[in-house]
Amino acid sequence: MDNRNKKMDLEYLRKSSFIQLEDEILDSIPTPYIIYNLSHLLGNLNQIISIIEPDFFYIPIKANYSQKIHDFLAKHTDGADVASLGEIDLATSAKYKSLHLSTPFLTIDILKKANLRECDSIDLYSLHQANILISYFATNKKINNPSISLRLKVPYTSNNSETYLNNSRFGILYKSKEFDDVILLLKKNNIKIECIHIHIGEYNNFSVISQIQKFLEKITLDIPYLKRINLGGGFTSLFGKYTDNEIRDTFHSFKNNILKVNSAIKFIIEPGMLTLMSSGTLAVSCIDSINSKDIIVDISAFNFFSWVKPRLLPSISAINENTEITIYGTTCYEEDIVSEKVYVSKIPKIGEKIFLAPAGAYINSINRNLHMFHITNELYIFEGVIYES
Ligand SMILES: Cc1ncc(COP(=O)(O)O)c(C=O)c1O
Repeated sequence: MDNRNKKMDLEYLRKSSFIQLEDEILDSIPTPYIIYNLSHLLGNLNQIISIIEPDFFYIPIKANYSQKIHDFLAKHTDGADVASLGEIDLATSAKYKSLHLSTPFLTIDILKKANLRECDSIDLYSLHQANILISYFATNKKINNPSISLRLKVPYTSNNSETYLNNSRFGILYKSKEFDDVILLLKKNNIKIECIHIHIGEYNNFSVISQIQKFLEKITLDIPYLKRINLGGGFTSLFGKYTDNEIRDTFHSFKNNILKVNSAIKFIIEPGMLTLMSSGTLAVSCIDSINSKDIIVDISAFNFFSWVKPRLLPSISAINENTEITIYGTTCYEEDIVSEKVYVSKIPKIGEKIFLAPAGAYINSINRNLHMFHITNELYIFEGVIYES
């Protein structure tokens, strides 16, 4: 077990009221089922806020498509990042306080549907998107004035596939011809950029953070009327690698250095994976075994585990580490591995129920349709009470 997973497991087990559910209730949960612990989700969110201390905390809707999760999160956050008609619908019915529309496929239809309010904002990813926005403004006289944000690539290279900086597929490269053209076009149309938005994949070490800080200091100097910087998501690796205090200190000085250039800047973060992943636990049953060792479980249509492999929750399953097994299922991903390097003292028997975590982020939003399996049911626990979806 690497350090990141060890830390995550311990955190999960320490805080989870899920594991305090009586055996009778655990036995009665059918499989496959995903169980969210909303108390744990709230604790997680507050912990991230207390460490990074952003001015605004947004939820990227793409990290989870459960209406109940968003009804809950809308009450505890400042807004939602949305990328499509469906995500706008979900965020609107959850009553998020504000929407940030950020999408590589902006269309007039999306703009009409979003019907952005003054408290909302919209990213421009390209000159083409700036033209779409301007023609929307021109033909819809009565629209409000959402604030305009530029989605920028961070102009450094990185060899790490998780941290793409200027290798990002999306956004405008600062000071490129496209950047200058967008600025000119916006100026001609009396539109001010109030925010810049970056998303660099994973902030996977402090040296990446200091490169980004230098870049943002420069932008803040060049665009004196800037009001907000949205740092995107991708904080998961950091929380696995460094202590809370190290992360707190790093972000404290990161923000202070930018504030020295412009003290009015407000910071937004929108971590999806880190906020949600450990709030969900997957209950599955062993449906077969391979060579009397590895097991196959009844995961269903939603399962996409290539980003974070869920681990067996040992204290729930009462299985201690000893023999290494692999857990397989129809993941709809190469090799069908749900979890590997799982250490058990007793190989689960066919029919036995086991619990896997984390399963709270990018699971139900990236479900797959192979075999036409049903989407897995979900239930929610909040302060010890169980709610069905
Ligand atoms: C713009 C933006 N913000 C936030 C996120 C969430 O990232 P994560 O779930 O890794 O924190 C993403 C993910 O792709 C994104 O593209």
